[in-house]
Amino acid sequence: MKITVVGTGYVGLVSGACLAEMGNDVLCLDLDPNKIKILKDGGIPIHEPGLDKVVERNVAAGRLHFTTDVEEAVRFGTIQFIAVGTPPDEDGSADLKYVLAAARNIGRLMTDYKVIIDKSTVPVGTADKVRAAVADELAKRGLDLEYSVVSNPEFLKEGAAVEDFMKPDRIVVGAEDERAIYMMRALYAPFQRNHDKLVVMDVRSAELTKYAANAMLATRISFMNELALLAEKLGADIELVRQGIGSDPRIGYHFLYAGCGYGGSCFPKDVKALIKSGADAGQDLKVLNAVEAANDAQKLVLVDKVVKQFGEDLSGKRFAVWGLAFKPNTDDMREATSRVVIEELFKRGATVSAYDPVAMAETKRIFGDEPRLAYARNPMDALEGADALVIVTEWKEFRSPDFARIKAVLRSPVVFDGRNLYDPAMPRAAGLTYLPIGRP
Ligand code: UDX
Repeated sequence: MKITVVGTGYVGLVSGACLAEMGNDVLCLDLDPNKIKILKDGGIPIHEPGLDKVVERNVAAGRLHFTTDVEEAVRFGTIQFIAVGTPPDEDGSADLKYVLAAARNIGRLMTDYKVIIDKSTVPVGTADKVRAAVADELAKRGLDLEYSVVSNPEFLKEGAAVEDFMKPDRIVVGAEDERAIYMMRALYAPFQRNHDKLVVMDVRSAELTKYAANAMLATRISFMNELALLAEKLGADIELVRQGIGSDPRIGYHFLYAGCGYGGSCFPKDVKALIKSGADAGQDLKVLNAVEAANDAQKLVLVDKVVKQFGEDLSGKRFAVWGLAFKPNTDDMREATSRVVIEELFKRGATVSAYDPVAMAETKRIFGDEPRLAYARNPMDALEGADALVIVTEWKEFRSPDFARIKAVLRSPVVFDGRNLYDPAMPRAAGLTYLPIGRP
């Protein structure tokens, strides 16, 4: 099949590369010439495990191409994926200007049947707006060409995006005409293994499904975080509680980890956008409002513990921070808890020595020339001259440190663990004061 993907961010690039991997001819469009240059030169503008290999292989095979030429892109694919950004507006709703610009371009330049697929996470009702934008452009040209608009949300996780695309647990397709449904079945046939993973539904339900999934997961996390706070007060251990409830198949083990708050490009933005959609529709989403407020508070939990230990005034104190990315295996710093932690430490007069395996360049870009923030070459170097260690992201390389060395190097041997990485007995046996989340 001939496929155009508009937008070469996480979703667009992963989708384009994986569809090429299945033998399709894929053209990826981005208006940012720098991104397209990097891709044409064989590079990858984002850090995503395995993606470089898939891109390289398919570029070499002549199935994956990149362009900044809108007209070429619209003419190329019968299937047109829209995978552009939907950044939050000031009021929290998803900003659709890029999605609708892409739709207008298609309407302005198409000459034959197109299946236009919303892959970006967009509020319920967006497909109608896309349909209207295309119709409007066609009307301006006095043309009456056939096209379908489909909602096909993406559920990929950063750090496992290629795997998630290649082996999806479900493929949600919101489509309302037979021709489009047939095309979608054909497109995703190679990704179906032993059972049909396509869940076909109306467009609005598909649009809501994406938000419902992320909001449900965010809710689980905020609920566990709140229980962790309670466990601390009651002298219980959230890790044991997690195991105790996860064994119930109705609950399950996934996404029950208490920590220092969720971040990333999806959960915070989607929770906000769904709250806004609710408000617009006259439905107050009480649970989701609480989920958001609980998460905002949870990002301060490590700083609260630091203040409890060292006092409000942290001037002259230095903190080692392990992990900056919003989660492991990515350099993504969007809504990362580390940003809040670092800012709050600065506010109280402290300095920070940070280490992250991949997100330090991105952190430098965000914090700019910040004299209070130093970057270490490895986790142990970050501890030099530091009073205490604050762990924000659960990278594998932090999982079995030399506790005796940590104790020897830190001025005041306290470890604040925002991700509950260790059996508390181990750091404590080395003489460290170990302060995890929700554990006695
Ligand atoms: C998420 C969804 O998982 C994915 O399906 C959707 O398409 C996009 O949003 P992603 O943002 O890449 O993916 O990260 P994810 O692995 O879901 O983690 C999100 C945040 O939740 C991270 O900050 C993580 O640290 C936190 N988290 C996750 C917890 O605090 N506890 C958990 O148990 C799980």
